[in-house]
Order: sequence, then structure tokens, then C-alpha cells
Amino acid sequence: MKTTISHIKADIGSLPGHTTVFEPVVKEVESHIKNNGASLLSDYYISHVGDDIQITMIHNGGIDNAEVHELAWNAFKAGTAVAKKYGLYGAGQDLLKDSFSGNIKGMGPGIAEMEITARKSEPFLVFMMDKTEPGAFNYPVFKMFADPFNTPGLVIDNNMHDGFIFEVWDIVEAKRIYLSAPEHMYDILGLIGSKGRYVIKRVLTKPEHEKLPDENVAVITTDKLSFIAGEYVGKDDPAGIVRIQSGLPASGEALEAFSHPYLVSGWMRGSFNGPLMPVGMKYAKMTRFDGPPRVVALGFVLKDGKLSGPVDMFDDPAFDGARKTAVDVVDYLRRMGPFEPHRLPEEDMEYTSLPRVLEKFKNKFEPIEKGQKKQKSINVSSNEID
Ligand code: F6R
Ligand code: MG
Ligand code: MG
Repeated sequence: MKTTISHIKADIGSLPGHTTVFEPVVKEVESHIKNNGASLLSDYYISHVGDDIQITMIHNGGIDNAEVHELAWNAFKAGTAVAKKYGLYGAGQDLLKDSFSGNIKGMGPGIAEMEITARKSEPFLVFMMDKTEPGAFNYPVFKMFADPFNTPGLVIDNNMHDGFIFEVWDIVEAKRIYLSAPEHMYDILGLIGSKGRYVIKRVLTKPEHEKLPDENVAVITTDKLSFIAGEYVGKDDPAGIVRIQSGLPASGEALEAFSHPYLVSGWMRGSFNGPLMPVGMKYAKMTRFDGPPRVVALGFVLKDGKLSGPVDMFDDPAFDGARKTAVDVVDYLRRMGPFEPHRLPEEDMEYTSLPRVLEKFKNKFEPIEKGQKKQKSINVSSNEID
């Protein structure tokens, strides 16, 4: 019997800026799911990180299920109405289309779904990030499923020893490739190091996995809002589902991948790099320089379509060191102001004034003559070149 975990998330308005969700909006989303989802869902959980509301749903309808997607869409619509009533900032910003047309993909919300054969005990983690992009999952997911220094189970657990298959998407050209670790480890890294373009969409077990042959074991949202809307309309803050234990990374191996606050892009105005800080729910609000980018992990167990949990996994002093490092990195990077590599390269920035600056001074640029010896004098008073 197959079960589907569908995680759908959207920013439908926040306060005071892009800081955090507003409780009445979250309540409206939740009551919509509660009142309209009974016949579709066996269970659900509503949470939030930063300005994004997150809906985790359990059902038997398979992935890309029109009714489940429509339920989430309508819940976000209902929440948007409340957000508008209170004048919340960016109310409805991730709902890019006017009406639902059968599949929530390409409509704005981020979506991660997997159909699984639930085990006797089915533990899994939901990771939710704010102020970053889908490629932010490349580093930790690679570490969880392919790096033996992070996940010793790859070396010492017979069930993991053959490794895993990575489905990598080229989100610019909408193409995908399946690569196998450890055999294609360096090829995988060659691609996913370019995290703005090549993103891990899924991890699968190999057919010879003794406990879980040919199963989905991790899935990440890969929706790029700017590609959908053709312009900057908000961040593509990603979420991911990772199954754990018994021939998969242990809970602690999956979490360990976040113990080093690696740099991700998408901070302030979607245009800066910053460290990804693992936090508990109570600290999932974006303050300093609209961040720093954060990740929350919720731990669930699924049985007969019902969820137990969640456990707020990073709400633990064991991650204080990572948080301290993240804040130190913030202090260091912030002193760079608008300079790269704190600021993203021109082509990756979500906001830029460069075209306007170039337009303004287009007649002032002059060719640099080869071998020009004499420096031109500058009339300081008029600030013009003679
Ligand atoms: C980053 C983010 C924020 C906003 C910033 C400016 O992903 O969401 O940093 O980009 O607060 O927002 P606007 O342009 O809406 O005033
Ligand atoms: Mg936002
Ligand atoms: Mg967000």
C-alpha cells in the first residue's frame, strides 16, 4: 500500500516586512485544510518558517494529485484574504495565477512530494528554509546520502553501503539526470556545486537496497519563482522531506549535515550570500539584515496514515555552536557591504540598479586607448573629465 507525503508552502503575506507569518493567517490556512481536507487527507500538519506557511499532508492520492493541490491552493487563497484584510506585507505574493488549473506546479507555491511504501515505523524529517533558494539543499543532501565523513552509515551499515541515486535538475533548461553515488560522486559534485542551476530534486535507493529497493527517500522543492513569473516576485525559499533510519541516514546523520553553517544565496533582497543558521521554531523569524537565512527541521513518525510529532529538531543546545559560527560569519560578511562575494554576482541578483546606472552614464563611458600615457586632468569643481 502506497502513501503520499505532500509538502506545499507559500509566502502569502508577512509582518512587519518579510520577517514572519501572522497567526490569524496561519489559523485560516489551517481551518481551511481541516474543514475541507477530511475526505482527502489522513493527516496534516501546518507550520511556518520566516514568512512562509508550510502544509505537510498525508494521503493515498499519489503525487500531482489535483484535489490535494487544489486543497492547498484554496487554503493559501483563504489565508491571502485574511492577509489582505490586515494589510500584511506582500499579501498573496507567491500565488502567481488567478485560478487553479489542475496542478499547483508553476503557480507559485513550492512543492515537494513523494509516494512511498511506508515501513513498519516510518520516521522522516521535514526541512524548511527561508531567505534562500532550492540549491541550498545541495550541500546537506549530498552530505547525508553520499559523504561518509558526515554519514558513517555509508561505510558501516550494510544496507547503505551500495549508496544512493541522485536525481539532479538543470532548472534553467528544465532537464534532469540520474547519477549514482559513490560511482559518479565527482560528477554529481561537478554539477551541484553550481547550486543556482543544478539542484538535487530527489534521492532514491538503488534496486539492490535490501530494505527499501527503488524507493524515494528524499525530495526537495525546486520551484523558481522568477522563472515562473519572468521577473522577481519573491524568494524561492525551499523545503525538503528526508526519510531516515534503517538503511537510510540516521536522524542525527541527516541533522549533522547542517552543523556547519555553509553559505547560501538569497539573503537580503534575494541578492546576498549568507550562512544558513539551523534554528528551532521559536527563532524562525528573519530579523538581522532580513535573515540570516535559516533552516528548521521537524521530525515525524508516520503510521497507518497518521503523523506523530513533530519534534523541533534544531531546538537543542547541540546546535548552539553552529548558530554562533553563523552569527560570526554574519558579522564578517556584513562588513563587506555591497561588495561580492557577500553580494551575489550581477547575473544572480534578484534586485539590481546596474542597468539604470549604465543607462545614466552611457554617454560618459569612453574607450580606453591603447598606450595612452598622459592621464586626463579632472576638473574637481564640476567633477567632470576635461
Ligand atoms: C529576501 C527578502 C527580503 C526583501 C526585502 C525588500 O528574500 O524577502 O530581504 O527582498 O525586505 O523587500 P521589498 O522589496 O518588498 O521592500
Ligand atoms: Mg517573502
Ligand atoms: Mg520566505
